[in-house]
Amino acid sequence: APDVRELLSSRIRDVQDYPKPGVVFKDITPLLADPVAFSALTDALAGLVDRHGATKVVGLEARGFILAAPAAVRAGVGFVPVRKAGKLPGATLGQAYDLEYGNAEIEVHAEDLGEADRVLIIDDVLATGGTVDASVQLLRRAGARIAGVAVLLELGFLGGRARLEPALGRTPLDSL
Ligand code: PRP
Ligand code: HPA
Repeated sequence: APDVRELLSSRIRDVQDYPKPGVVFKDITPLLADPVAFSALTDALAGLVDRHGATKVVGLEARGFILAAPAAVRAGVGFVPVRKAGKLPGATLGQAYDLEYGNAEIEVHAEDLGEADRVLIIDDVLATGGTVDASVQLLRRAGARIAGVAVLLELGFLGGRARLEPALGRTPLDSL
């Protein structure tokens, strides 16, 4: 609903020159600190779990966890973390990907996902799309199908949506 979008937008703060000069950083911590806004966000994300028929919610470390876990609880489905490499103790599947400078790797516990699972991937911000792109590849290799991708905020000028098009096709990408 338009009023929810307005509420969420009003609780995101622009921080000039962070983390470096010329960058305007979208800071979601005021939204998290406002229980009405955080609850409205959680409801909206849980609604997407239902609408897309997801059987699990996957959160992307670290800020994605904050949004994904309460949405999973509210929707009545399980939560699975995608973590930066080296943090998960069990048998993992990993996926390397490129960053603006250098590279990174993410991991998941494959045993927490199965062929029957349709996952909703949740993160706070879609920027270049590199993190979500790698997560989609990783989760598919783990045997899951992608029910959708949901983010609070999409930085449209960075082209993440276009980058994800080949991987997602008709799979919904919702930004709130
Ligand atoms: C940020 C953000 C997304 C990602 C978006 O995470 O939370 O996960 O970058 O960028 P992309 O679309 O260009 O991949 P960051 O790596 O800063 O980690 P954090 O959540 O642990 O702070
Ligand atoms: N805010 C939060 N996370 C981000 C941003 C931003 O502006 N850009 C890339 N990741």
